[in-house]
Amino acid sequence: MAQILKILILPGDGIGPEVMAEAVKVLKAFETPQRQFQLRQELIGGCSIDTHGKPVTEEVKQAALDSDAVLFAAVGGPKWDHARRGLDGPEGGLLQLRKTMDIYANLRPCSANSPSASIAKEFSPFKQDVIEGVDFVVVRENCGGAYFGRKVEESDYAMDEWGYSEAEIQRVTRLAAQVALRHDPPWPVISLDKANVLASSRLWRRVVEKTITTEYPQVKLVHQLADSASLILATNPRTLNGVLLADNTFGDMISDQAGSIVGTLGVLPSASLNGLPGERGLTTRPYGLYEPTHGSAPTIAGQNIANPVAMILCVALMFRYSLNMETEARQVEDAVRKVLDSGVRTPDLGGTAGTKEVGDVIVSAL
Ligand code: NAI
Ligand code: MG
Repeated sequence: MAQILKILILPGDGIGPEVMAEAVKVLKAFETPQRQFQLRQELIGGCSIDTHGKPVTEEVKQAALDSDAVLFAAVGGPKWDHARRGLDGPEGGLLQLRKTMDIYANLRPCSANSPSASIAKEFSPFKQDVIEGVDFVVVRENCGGAYFGRKVEESDYAMDEWGYSEAEIQRVTRLAAQVALRHDPPWPVISLDKANVLASSRLWRRVVEKTITTEYPQVKLVHQLADSASLILATNPRTLNGVLLADNTFGDMISDQAGSIVGTLGVLPSASLNGLPGERGLTTRPYGLYEPTHGSAPTIAGQNIANPVAMILCVALMFRYSLNMETEARQVEDAVRKVLDSGVRTPDLGGTAGTKEVGDVIVSAL
C-alpha cells in the first residue's frame, strides 16, 4: 500500500498561483509507487473574497486540519486594499488559518549558503567575510505576546498588553530545542528577551531556562538581550549560529533583519508549526503551514517573471519539518543551489529565465 500524504494547496492572489505551480511540479517529482501526494487546491485571500465573500471558508479551515501539511503562496493586492481590513481582508484569511491550526512557532532559516553562496555574494549588503558561514534558524513565537494581547486605543492614549503564560513559552521552547537537536552536534539555543526591563521577558527567561536545563540538558542555552542581538546580527552574525528563539515582537524584527543577510526577497521560505513529528506526547501529526516570506507582488503578476525559488524551498521545509523526508529536503535545496549557480534565474536575480523555466530546470536537476 502506498503512503498517501494529503497536502492542501493555497495559491492565493497575485503571483501566488504562478509560484505555486512550480512548487507543485517539484513536489510531484518526489512521488513514487510507495509515496503519493494527494493534492487539494482551495481559495484563500482576495480570490476567496471574490467567490465566497470571505477570505477563508470554514471548509478550507477544516481541509487544513485534515491535511498532512499546507502550502500557502501569498494573498492580497490593490483590488481589495480599500474595501476590507483585519480579519475580513485578504490577509485575514491567513490570520484565521493560523489561529485555526494554532501554529505557534514560525521558523525562518537564514544561511549564507541557502539558497546558494553565489546569491548571498551578489545580493547581500554585507561584506562576504562577515556573512561567510552564517547558519541559523529563527524560531518566533507566533500566537501570543503583544500582537494578540488586549488593546486600548483612544485619541490621546493607546496600550498593547504584552503578556505570556508559562505554557505558551514552554511549548515554543520545546520546539526550538527539538530543532537544535536535529543537528549533530546539537545547535545552541540563543534566547532573545529584554529581561532587564520587561516583566514578560523575565518570565520568558525563567521558563526557557527551566525547560531546556531539565528537558534538554544536551542543548546549550544562551540568553541574549534582543537589542544587542540585533547589533550582533549586523556586525558579527556568525556568533548567532544556532536556534534564535524569540517572542512574537522580537522574533518579528529579528527574522526580517535576518533576511538582509541573503539580501533578496524571492528566495526566503518560512514554516509555521504547532509541533514537530515525533515530539513527546504527540500522537497525531502536528500542523504545518509553509509560505514564502514575500507577498503577492501584484505589479509583476501574470507575466511569468516571478521568482518561484522561495515557494520551492517551502517544499523542502515541508519535507523536513512535517513529512520526515530530510533526504528529499536536501535534494530540493541542492537542486535549487545548482540551478541558481548555473545562472538560470528570474529577473529579480539578474537573470532572463521565466518562472516556469526556473521550475522546469530545478525539476530536471532533481
Ligand atoms: P511583496 O513581497 O509582494 O513585494 C515586494 C517587492 O518584491 C516587489 O517589488 C515585488 O515585485 C518583489 N517580489 C516579491 N516577491 C517576488 C518574487 N517571488 N519574485 C520576484 N519579485 C518579487 O510585498 P509588498 O509589495 O509590500 O505587498 C504586495 C501585496 O502582497 C500587498 O497586497 C500585501 O498586503 C501582500 N502581502 C502578502 C503577504 C502574505 O501573503 N503573507 C506578505 C506580504 C505582503
Ligand atoms: Mg515582519
